[in-house]
Amino acid sequence: MVWRIILLLHLGYSGAELYLRGINESYTEQEERLLSLLLRLQQEEYYDTLMVYGEECPFHSLSRSLEVPAVMVPLGGTNYDWNFGSLTLILSCGFPAEREENHRTLMKLQLNRRIIHLQKDINVESVCNYYAKNEQYNIAVVREDFGRSGNIYVCRCFQKTKYIEVNLFSGRPIFFEQFRNMQGAAIKSLTDNLAPRSMAYRDPKTDQKKFKGYVANALNSFVEKVNATLAWQLDVAPPGKRIFFTNITKWTAEDLLDIGMSVDSTWDKWNLDTQTYPYLMCSYCFMVPLPDLLPYYEIYTYIVDLDVLAVIFVLFCIFSLLLIYGQQMSWQGLSLSRVLLNDRCFRGLLGQPFPFPLHSTKKLKLICFLLCFASLLTTTMYVAYLQAFLATPPPMPRLRSFKDLHNSRYTVAISLGEMDVLGFADNRRLQNVDPEKLEVFEDYVKFFHLRETFNNNYLFPVTDLRWSTYKEQQKIFASPVFYYTDAFCLSRFNFLSFPVRRHLPYRHLFEEHLQRLKEFGLLKHWQDRSFFDMVMLGLTPLEDFSPLPETDSIDLYDLSWIFGMYFAALGLCCCCFFVELWGSLNWWRRFKRWTTN
Ligand SMILES: *[C@@H]1O[C@H](CO)[C@@H](O)[C@H](O)[C@H]1NC(C)=O
Ligand SMILES: *[C@@H]1O[C@H](CO)[C@@H](O)[C@H](O)[C@H]1NC(C)=O
Ligand SMILES: *[C@@H]1O[C@H](CO)[C@@H](O)[C@H](O)[C@H]1NC(C)=O
Repeated sequence: MVWRIILLLHLGYSGAELYLRGINESYTEQEERLLSLLLRLQQEEYYDTLMVYGEECPFHSLSRSLEVPAVMVPLGGTNYDWNFGSLTLILSCGFPAEREENHRTLMKLQLNRRIIHLQKDINVESVCNYYAKNEQYNIAVVREDFGRSGNIYVCRCFQKTKYIEVNLFSGRPIFFEQFRNMQGAAIKSLTDNLAPRSMAYRDPKTDQKKFKGYVANALNSFVEKVNATLAWQLDVAPPGKRIFFTNITKWTAEDLLDIGMSVDSTWDKWNLDTQTYPYLMCSYCFMVPLPDLLPYYEIYTYIVDLDVLAVIFVLFCIFSLLLIYGQQMSWQGLSLSRVLLNDRCFRGLLGQPFPFPLHSTKKLKLICFLLCFASLLTTTMYVAYLQAFLATPPPMPRLRSFKDLHNSRYTVAISLGEMDVLGFADNRRLQNVDPEKLEVFEDYVKFFHLRETFNNNYLFPVTDLRWSTYKEQQKIFASPVFYYTDAFCLSRFNFLSFPVRRHLPYRHLFEEHLQRLKEFGLLKHWQDRSFFDMVMLGLTPLEDFSPLPETDSIDLYDLSWIFGMYFAALGLCCCCFFVELWGSLNWWRRFKRWTTN
C-alpha cells in the first residue's frame, strides 16, 4: 500500500517536474540524449514501468520526466516478492548496481530489458559477460560519453564479438530476440523413451538416432525453428539404467538439462518454475478387462426372473379360477387346492396337451383358447431366451467401483515407480483398494509386459493418451479385451508439461511454440498418428492377444443345474407315488377287514 501511494505521488510529481524543467531548460546534453532514447523505447512499446537500480544518476531525474510509473531501488535489491510485468524496463546506475537477491524477483526479471549507465573505467565486454553468466541477455550499455557520441553498446550472445555498437540515430533496433536464431547452440536434453510420447528410430539418411512421437516432435520442431542443436547428456544418467520422466524432471530442476524430452504431471508441484505451460491434458484411470461371458451352466438360472415368475403365477391363478367358474358357471366347489393344483391349467400353461372339457360352452372354449395363447407366449419367450443365450452367452455386468473389484477375479497391477509418483510408495496401498487385490511390481519391465500383452487378470492404470493406442491395437483382435473406464481413476484431470531449467532464457519462446503446435492442430495430428508410428517402429506387435474362445460345445457339466432339478423333481414324484401307494395299501387293508367282518 505504502509503495502504491509513493508511486502515485511520484506520478503526479513527475508531471509537475516536467513542466518546471520546461521553464528552466537545464538538461545536460547527455540527459537529453537519454531522454530521447527512453522516449523512443516508450513509443516502440518496450516498457510500461521503469525500475531504477542504484544511487543518483541521470536516470533518476529522467524517470520523473516520463509519464510512467517508476520504482526506485537505491540499495540494489528488493527483499520482497514483487510482481513485475514483462514490460518493465530496468535502468542501472553504474555497474554492478543491480544486486537482486530475491530469487523469485530474479526469475521474473530475467527476461526484462536492461539499460546500464556505465562508469568510465569499466569495459563493456566484462559487463556483457557478467550478465550472460546470470543468463540475462537483453542488455544495452550507455557510457558517460553518450551525450556526444550517441553510441549504445548492445550485448549479443551468439556472436564472436560479445557486443555491437548501435547509434541512437541509426534507427537500428536496440533490443531484439536473440534466441530466435541460436546459431546452432546446444540445448541439453534427455528422453525417457516412453512410447508413444518419444520413440527412438534411426534416421535412414544420416544414420543418426532420432526420436519421434508427440512429445519428441515438439522439442525437435522447436530445435529446428530456433536453429539450435540437441545435445544428449548421456553422462548425467548412470549407464544401463532405465531413465524415467521423474528422473528427467529431477535433473532438469538441478540445472543438468535445459529441456527434458518428456512430460511430467504438475499436480504435485508448488509452482511452475521448472515446468512449462501445460502441453497435454489427460485423465489417469484404469483399463479394465471386458467382463467374461456368462458360463453356460448359469444361463438357466439367469433367464428365470423372479418378477416374470410371479406374473406367470398370477396368470396361472386367474386361468384356474376362470376354468373352475367356466365349467359350472358358478363358484360352487371353489377351494384353494383346486385353484393351486389345477391340472388343466398347469399343463396348459406349460404348453402340454390337456383334456378339453366335454360339452363346453362358448365362454369355456374362449378361456381355453386364451390359456393356449398364454402358454404359446411364455414357452416361446423362454425358448427364444435360452437359444439366444446358448448361442452367444451375454457378458456379465461390468465393474462399477472398487467395491465390485472385491468380489471379482481381477487384481490391480501397478508398478512401484507409479506408486512413487502418486505418493503411495511408502505404505504400498491405494485408496479404496483392498491390499490383497493389489499387486505392486517393482520391475517396471514386467509390469509393462503384462500390460502390453493384454493380460486380462489385471486392471492396469493408464492415461487416456496411452489408452488411445491400445484401443487402436484392439481393433485387430478377434474381440476387444479391455475397456477404459472413468469409474476407477487415480486422477481425473491432469496437466502434463515439459520440465525446463529454472532460468532457461528462451522459455517464453518454447512455450509460445507449444501453444502454436496445439493451435494449429499439429499435436492432435501427432497423437492420432502415434499408433501408426508405434507399428512402423515395431513397438507394437500386430498380434492378437485376445483370449482364445473356450470350446463352444455344451458339455454335461453345463447341464448340471437342469439335471439336478430334473432328478430332484423325479425324486419328489417318486415320494408322492410311494406315499400314495402306502395310503392305498392302508385303504386296501381296511377294506378287507370290513368285508371279512
Ligand atoms: C534552474 O536551474 C538552476 C541551476 O541550473 C537552479 O538554481 C534553479 O533552481 C532552477 N530553477 C527551477 C525552477 O528549477
Ligand atoms: C543456423 O546456425 C548455423 C550455425 O550452426 C549457421 O551457420 C546458419 O547460418 C544458421 N541458419 C540461419 C538460417 O541463420
Ligand atoms: C529414477 O527414478 C526412479 C523412481 O523415481 C528411481 O528408483 C531411480 O533410482 C532413478 N534413477 C536414477 C538413475 O536416478
